[in-house]
Amino acid sequence: MPPMFNYTQQTENIEFLEIAPASELPNGERLFVEIEGKSIVIFNIAGQFFAIADVCTHDDGPLGDGDLEGYNIVCPRHGAEFDVRTGKVMQMPAVVDVPAYPVKVADGMILVGFPRE
Ligand code: FES
Repeated sequence: MPPMFNYTQQTENIEFLEIAPASELPNGERLFVEIEGKSIVIFNIAGQFFAIADVCTHDDGPLGDGDLEGYNIVCPRHGAEFDVRTGKVMQMPAVVDVPAYPVKVADGMILVGFPRE
């Protein structure tokens, strides 16, 4: 089994950290943040928020700089695609999923959940 990095359905051992006011991430935009040494990109797609690692699993490309096709982000380096909702790889040349993190909005703030041991 390939490793699983989809934390979006995980309910235990997740810590939500405040990232930014939701007003800073309008519909169609994306936000790049560095959290605990991890590069994360957060998307607002039609009012829904999604967070994945900003590093392509193929060759460490800057995934968040790619174009969105629906819910798929296309890596600008060699064209691998990932579903931003789950981190699942959808298109070669990447074969490993990227981490996907749960996102919620509370009191106008975007919170992203990170797995804890
Ligand atoms: S680094 Fe992303 S497809 Fe190669």
